Amino acid sequence: MMKTLLHLLAMLMANFAVAAEGAAGSAVRAVNLPPPPSTGAMSLNEALARRRSVREFSHGELTLDEISRLAWAAQGITAPQLRTAPSPGATYPLEVYLVVGEVKSLATGVYRYLPCLHRLELMSDGDIRLPVADTAVGQTWISKAAMVVVIAAVFERTTACYGKRGERYVYVEAGHVAQNLLLQATALGLGARPVGAFNDLGISRLLRMPEGEMPLYIVPVGRIAQS
Ligand SMILES: Cc1cc2nc3c(=O)[nH]c(=O)nc-3n(C[C@H](O)[C@H](O)[C@H](O)COP(=O)(O)O)c2cc1C
Repeated sequence: MMKTLLHLLAMLMANFAVAAEGAAGSAVRAVNLPPPPSTGAMSLNEALARRRSVREFSHGELTLDEISRLAWAAQGITAPQLRTAPSPGATYPLEVYLVVGEVKSLATGVYRYLPCLHRLELMSDGDIRLPVADTAVGQTWISKAAMVVVIAAVFERTTACYGKRGERYVYVEAGHVAQNLLLQATALGLGARPVGAFNDLGISRLLRMPEGEMPLYIVPVGRIAQS
């Protein structure tokens, strides 16, 4: 009985997050992404076989279409209240930020992906890829990627339902989201690499994350340097 009530509460909180997102999405500084196409050029098997962690990036802008597909792969809506990646009890504890450096038709800055609207919301201006790399224990290669995806968590959305064990679920979900992103990057012929070594407080301050949000995983994405 108690578990059912907690589950209902978590569902309500998830719905509240969606409502809040709608309000934020109506702000002026938002960018609508092109609809994510339902087909891709590479098969799942090929993407699985080809995926490799890449650190060697060349200069070269990403396109809005590529950003659309990447964001959708990470957290896109695929059915009412459901997304590309599984989530414990559909509590959706994760937020996806894009640290944009070189994207055609998109100003540099930090953007938050709004799944329900398939839209980006500009959180702050300017190119912060270098400080992000510094905060990732000096992994300077990160600053060469056209864009850095940061996956952050609001643990309470899930722990409200599942208690302490919910913390584990949030980390597991971040892995699902990151893998979706890595496979999509591979399918698009882009390079990407998951990064776990970074200073949590440093990243949350740089991205001006709201209180209660914690960065879990970083995935730089960009064009692969030809060797
Ligand atoms: C949880 C996790 C954290 C990682 N952190 C880093 C990191 O901080 N820096 C880095 O260059 N690679 C990092 N990697 C990438 C691994 O080094 C890489 O996956 C591994 O060398 C295997 O290569 P592959 O991904 O091409 O199969 C991380 C991978 C995982 C799963």
